[in-house]
Formats: sequence, C-alpha cells, structure tokens
Amino acid sequence: MNEQEIIDTENSLMANVFSKKPIVITRGKGALVWDVNGKEYVDFNSGYGVALLGHCHPKIVEAVCQQAQQLITCHAGYYNDKRSEFLRKLTEITPKGLTKAFLSNSGAESVECALKLARKHTGKPEIIAVMGAFHGKTMGALSATWDKKYREPFFPLVPEIKHIPPDNLEKAREAVSEKTAAILVEPIRGEGGIRVTPDGYLEGLRELCDEKKLLLMFDEVQSGFGRTGKLFACQYWNVIPDVMCLAKPLAGGLPLGATVAREEVMASFKVGDHSTTYSGNPLVCAAGCAAIDVLVNERIADNASFLGLYFKSALLELQAKHKSIKEVRGLGLMLGMELKFDVLNVLLKTMEKGVLVLDAGRNVVRFLPPLVISKEQIDKAIAVLDSVLEEEENARSSGAPAN
Ligand SMILES: Cc1ncc(COP(=O)(O)O)c(C=O)c1O
Repeated sequence: MNEQEIIDTENSLMANVFSKKPIVITRGKGALVWDVNGKEYVDFNSGYGVALLGHCHPKIVEAVCQQAQQLITCHAGYYNDKRSEFLRKLTEITPKGLTKAFLSNSGAESVECALKLARKHTGKPEIIAVMGAFHGKTMGALSATWDKKYREPFFPLVPEIKHIPPDNLEKAREAVSEKTAAILVEPIRGEGGIRVTPDGYLEGLRELCDEKKLLLMFDEVQSGFGRTGKLFACQYWNVIPDVMCLAKPLAGGLPLGATVAREEVMASFKVGDHSTTYSGNPLVCAAGCAAIDVLVNERIADNASFLGLYFKSALLELQAKHKSIKEVRGLGLMLGMELKFDVLNVLLKTMEKGVLVLDAGRNVVRFLPPLVISKEQIDKAIAVLDSVLEEEENARSSGAPAN
C-alpha cells in the first residue's frame, strides 16, 4: 500500500476516535522514527510515553523473538516461567511492600483493577479522585478521569467516584466520608498538563489515608518506570501507596499493565474476582523482563535526570526569549511547556520540521521522549521549537492566521 492508501484505509476502516496526524510511521530506532517516505523524526512523543527505552531496543527485540519461538500464549490458569520471572523482577523494583501484582494489558485496565480492589478490600464504594486527573477511558477508569469532554457523552458512569480540587489537603480531608474506600492520584498529572504535585501533598494524603483507614492508590502509568529520573515518581516524596497502577513502557512497547499492591490488600481478591484472558502473557512478560533488565542494569532512569535537567534548562532559555511561553514544568523527561495559545499548530509545524511532540490539554506542549535520547537530538528539538514559536508569534502579532 502506498501512503495515501494506508491513510484512506485507516480512515475508512478504523473507528474514528483518534485525532490523526497526517504521516505514516513505519520504522523506529532509539529516539528516531521514519515515515513511509523515509523522512526522519526525533520522537518526543514515544507513543504517549511507551517507547521509554527507545524504539526497537535490541534487548527487547531479542527477547520477543526468542520467546515467540518458545511459547506465545499461556493462560494464567497455568504456571509459566516467563510470567514468574517477570513478577519477580517487577516486585524487586516496585516501592517497598508492593509485592503482589495483577497483570493486564493497558493503563486503563490497571486502574480498573485498582478500583475493584479498593471496593473489595474495604467493603466501601466511594473512590476520591482529583480534578484534572486522567486514568483512561474504560467505564471505571473514565469515571475517575476528570475532563468532561471524555465523560459526559457516556453518563451515567460508575457511581460513587467523586473529584476533589488538586493539591489541596484540606479539600481531601473534607471529602472523606463513611463510604470512602480509597484516594486515587497521579503524582504528576500527565494528560492534565504535566502538573507536579507540590511537596507535602502526597505525604499528607498518606497520613490522611492511614488515619481514616483508606487505600492510597497512585496512578504511575505515565510517570513510572524511570520517566522522571526515579524508578517511580512517588519516590521523590518517599511516599509509598497501598496500590500502584503501571503500564505504558513496562514491556518495552508491548501492551502490559500491572496493578501492584501490598500483599494483604491484593489478598482481598479471591479466585474469579478479577481476570483477563491475556494476564501475564509469556511473550509480553519476556519483553517486560528485558525492559526491567535494561532499565536497571543500564541505569536508564539516570538519563532522565541529567537529560531532563539539560532539556528543561534549554526550555527555560526558550521561555526567556519567547513571550508566548507561560511556564515550563515537570520532572526528568516528563516535561511540559505551557503556551499562551492553542498548541495544535505548534505540534503540526514541529512535525513538518522533523520533531514529534505531544499536547497535554489545549495549551501545553508535552515532551515524553525515550530516555535514550541524545543531547544533539534535544538541541534539534529546541532549535525547531524556537523557529516554530517565532513563526507563531509573528503570525499572531501581524494578525495573520498562523498556518
Ligand atoms: C496516568 C494515566 N493513567 C491511565 C492511562 C490510561 O492508559 P491506557 O491508554 O493504556 O489505557 C493513561 C494514558 O495516557 C495515563 O496517562
């Protein structure tokens, strides 16, 4: 199929739920991807944070190829060597005490599991989530997600899930009732605009949950696995939740979600309470083992720390130059740049110039590059952003449409 045929086929045969960008990506290596015409892009999107180790990391490719010849599928009703190995590796890196996991296939599923677990463990129905949060789009996860454009078309949602203003401990305390089972929070709100929770907030939630006997549940689907410079973002505040949701980069690009919990919390689930056919699929677990090995042995999270500082200071320099940049924020290589206008044009123009970036809400350009990105590739992105912002600012100040 040529480029146009590929585009036409997806447009006509695939549910029209994704906001598509007009390129066809067919190849990737490290922090680079190529389109069907051979044009190269530096990838600061990495599939919404999935390709954290880089595209087609050789160790992931090798693990997948080997396992594909051995055993591709094995229901969790039977034991499997790769699943056991992955569970060991995973619970070796999760924060202390989070030693029991349910494996699924996506971030939303990891949240669904957490919501059910909270109800089962406490016998109470109510979940407190945060305004601005994003937890996925399946019915339960969607009910905890904040943005009304995602929620309203699907009312009625799962009952007894309510939202509190972010980063406000008083409001959290006021919201707790006799019916509350858990508080669910992202240590850094990703889709919500790369907003880092302030010091003291997660610590305060931990105290509140201990006092009221609630479960504290962190959604680290986007912030986890080294993205912020620590293995898990909650480690910046030394706060350990009772339940943690993971997905995106966990298997080097293959679909894998994990809900990890304290042993006695997960013990509330009895046989049949929760499942998915693919839970702990050997092929995905083989990729997951390789991903954890690379993350730990090659100290990939350290890259996020020092490259994150390098990138953030370059973005702050851009801010000093461009009045259209309102704020630069984030931790490690989970960064956001809030603009004074809609970012769609910036996304499309940087793409034309060979750099893929993401949005996070209408005004925020989001950067989730592979942690193996180079300083030169960061420099390229900064140069491209510089010129695109200049074009946008000029177009706006002259009143001409910025296209
Ligand atoms: C924090 C967070 N939780 C959950 C999800 C949902 O993950 P998925 O799209 O894999 O269902 C996302 C996706 O962006 C996310 O960022």
